[in-house]
Amino acid sequence: MKLSLLKALYIDTLVPFYARSEGENIFYIVLEHLDKKSKIDILLGAETFNVESYQSILEALKQGTPVQYLTQMAPFYNLELFVNPSVLIPRPETEQLVHLVLDENRGAHKKVLDIGTGSGCIALALKNEWKEATISACDISEEALVVARKNASDLALKVDFYQTDILINEIAVYDILVSNPPYISPSEKDAMHINVIENEPHIALFVDDIDPLVFYKRIIQLAEKQRAICYFETSEFYRTSLETWLEEGEYSFEWKADFQGKDRILKVIW
Ligand SMILES: C[S@@+](CC[C@H](N)C(=O)[O-])C[C@H]1O[C@@H](n2cnc3c(N)ncnc32)[C@H](O)[C@@H]1O
Repeated sequence: MKLSLLKALYIDTLVPFYARSEGENIFYIVLEHLDKKSKIDILLGAETFNVESYQSILEALKQGTPVQYLTQMAPFYNLELFVNPSVLIPRPETEQLVHLVLDENRGAHKKVLDIGTGSGCIALALKNEWKEATISACDISEEALVVARKNASDLALKVDFYQTDILINEIAVYDILVSNPPYISPSEKDAMHINVIENEPHIALFVDDIDPLVFYKRIIQLAEKQRAICYFETSEFYRTSLETWLEEGEYSFEWKADFQGKDRILKVIW
């Protein structure tokens, strides 16, 4: 079957679920995954013998499964990471957090802890670009740690992964704490894409409505004892409440804008 026809089928079928441009991008991801082909091959009139595989992936996409879980791959900051439903799919916003940490620290011999590592994306991207750093990473989820360790082994990157509940347990001494913690309150669920709610791990997404800032507060308090600099990804919805809490505690902090100009990266300094 001609790839151009398959592309049209994907875009038309996915219209109820995704914008046309997103449907097109999803097709290119599947094309690369199944046939190692690109846009140019479509223009050149290439065909595939893999029609059934394309159709079964399209069926799963219609059920709402994110394409990254189907291909089991997600690109992140110059890395190709293995992902499965035990981990959050790494997001482009998180690449900006990594970029800032690298920009401000690359070359220095620092000890870094990534808290709530999921696929290991932050820790592994940092190690890949910053060889002098000693990087550890933790998560409460053993299933996520299996994925993170597989990524470290596949990419031959040395990161020490360990299991802990950061809300309960203490940590060793670090120069830098970096985290993209769970920060979505259950009341925000209605505004979220159904694909995310039904497929990605809830432990990675949601916090208690009673205190959505619980992870930020806990990590900053852990950092305070040892004067570790903190870098966080946050939600724009919590900017005001986080700022109020930080000011009340007389913490020094800075906001950094993401690529949409929203203040979503928080740095706490001592
Ligand atoms: C938003 S995800 C971030 C995953 C990854 N760092 C990323 O940026 O894609 C938050 C992570 O925190 C972990 N987590 C949730 N509660 C935790 C806890 N109490 N202690 C440690 N990690 C926790 C989840 O399992 C999840 O992997």
